[in-house]
Amino acid sequence: MARIFKLTTEREEGLAVALKALQQGELVAVPTETVYGLAADATQADAVARIYKAKGRPSFNPLIVHVDGLEMAQATAVFDPISLKLANHFWPGSLTLVLPLRNNSIANAVTAGLDTIALRHPKGVMADLAGDLGNPIAAPSANSSGRISPTIAAHVEADIGKKVDIILNDGPCTVGIESTIVKVVEGKVHVLRVGGISNEEIAAIVGEIHLLTPPESEAKIEAPGMLLAHYAPRTKVRLDAQTPKPNEALLAFGETKEFAGVPSCNLSLTKNLDEAAHNLFAMLKILDDTNSSCIAVQPIPHHGLGAAINDRLKRAAQGANQA
Ligand code: TXA
Ligand code: MG
Repeated sequence: MARIFKLTTEREEGLAVALKALQQGELVAVPTETVYGLAADATQADAVARIYKAKGRPSFNPLIVHVDGLEMAQATAVFDPISLKLANHFWPGSLTLVLPLRNNSIANAVTAGLDTIALRHPKGVMADLAGDLGNPIAAPSANSSGRISPTIAAHVEADIGKKVDIILNDGPCTVGIESTIVKVVEGKVHVLRVGGISNEEIAAIVGEIHLLTPPESEAKIEAPGMLLAHYAPRTKVRLDAQTPKPNEALLAFGETKEFAGVPSCNLSLTKNLDEAAHNLFAMLKILDDTNSSCIAVQPIPHHGLGAAINDRLKRAAQGANQA
């Protein structure tokens, strides 16, 4: 079972033990502002192999690599001017850039053999650890493959606690939804995964953006996170619901009337989309554990972080309904 350190009270010891574990090729669950990541030294092939094994992740699905700033990023990948502008504007933050890989010491499995690499400079201790390690850190979300990303340490422990050596508990992730993944191709900005930085925010910096639509088959995958059946709770999910049906749980948005006896959570009483993103995964987990026949989700507007929330909900509906 994992050793767990609370960063509020055991920060120094927790970070020191985590650093040592990373150096020794072990796995550490590390909080970021988006979701908890399952971290390993990106230059150690054995450690990276352990990530895939712990998650049950298919080997064709490459990992996001975390750096402590532009210097480490530019030693790892080649930046075009637009990607550089985005990094300067949004890092540290919830933006991941897919860039041509430089010939360096990153383990092959990290990029699943692609000639590109997904890089992010996150907020918080993940970046500090990369700096102290002196190497980039590979870290997908710290959940079993295909399941909801963890936004609190207890969810990491419940899901993959037996497969990870150390968990750093820094409380709930502030953003609560995974990073936005962007790839610049021939000067055009493609959003491969909508996420914690909204499309509007990116467009404000670079002008026009192009949204990648989910592929119909794995053969076309640019970012396997684009697969529709992803981020799934066990319970079925029904979207754009106004009122729960018998035996359903309710995921509400905005003020709504009380439904007696219905397990419910409210993403944001005041219809604040940032608050809703922050609450999304934890509330899906709570409702998933209520033994309801289905989770009915009220409509969420599509602007700002609403686009990422609706994206994850659509995948949750698809995944759970297929399972
Ligand atoms: O917020 C986040 O992004 C979190 C935290 C821990 O940083 N990480 C995360 O990682 O969500 P993961 O592995 O769950 O999602 C990574 C996504 C996958 O959809 C993967 O296919 C895509 O990034 N990806 C990684 N490398 C890629 C590449 N070279 N080209 C295209 N997509 C890539
Ligand atoms: Mg994930």
